[in-house]
Amino acid sequence: MYLKEFKIQLLENSRISDKVRDKIIHLKQEYWDYPYESHLKWMEENIREDEYHLIITDSMDEVIAYLNIVNVSLTLNNSGEEVMGVGNVCVKKSYSGQGIGRLLMGISNYYINSFGKRGILLCKQPLINFYEKCGWMKYEGEVFLKDKKYDGAVMFTEYLNTPKISIEREF
Ligand SMILES: CC(C)(COP(=O)(O)OP(=O)(O)OC[C@H]1O[C@@H](n2cnc3c(N)ncnc32)[C@H](O)[C@@H]1OP(=O)(O)O)[C@@H](O)C(=O)NCCC(=O)NCCS
Repeated sequence: MYLKEFKIQLLENSRISDKVRDKIIHLKQEYWDYPYESHLKWMEENIREDEYHLIITDSMDEVIAYLNIVNVSLTLNNSGEEVMGVGNVCVKKSYSGQGIGRLLMGISNYYINSFGKRGILLCKQPLINFYEKCGWMKYEGEVFLKDKKYDGAVMFTEYLNTPKISIEREF
């Protein structure tokens, strides 16, 4: 079923209602099979008060697409850069393959642009193609995540020409 009407919201974590948070968790549970409390704990521990949830809701106020946008410190060469980290990208299964994921990422790109920062995300190999279709670029250098070598894919909204980066947190 294609949507005739939907709503897009960028919500600061400090302002999110319990009801919306529950709906986000229920959507995440479609893909990441952990108990409700475990998702809740992860969100409490990994999303700070001034960071964001991007949601698309349908006309019944159900959350059909979600991602979070957080602040991430990068070390490249010997300098630091603050970037926006995108994580937990998901689209309700009953709406998959309709272009909602691409739409969600397009909106995310808009907000990242408005923050005047580079966007970063971590993903598994099979999803590189999806993110490239959303305008992101694969980083080809060496990556350290919380001081450990990271073997997954790292993508950026802008080309980054540096041989090595360190990412300070997961998101
Ligand atoms: C990945 C995901 C967000 C895609 O959402 P979606 O709404 O089905 O994607 P779209 O319909 O917008 O697809 C856009 C394009 O990407 C491609 N694509 C979608 N999912 C893909 C996947 N898993 N692997 C490769 N390509 C994919 C589509 O074929 C489409 O290409 P086209 O426009 O040339 O036909 C969704 O499948 C999802 O929620 N996955 C599970 C959660 C997950 O793994 N998230 C990533 C965390 S890093």
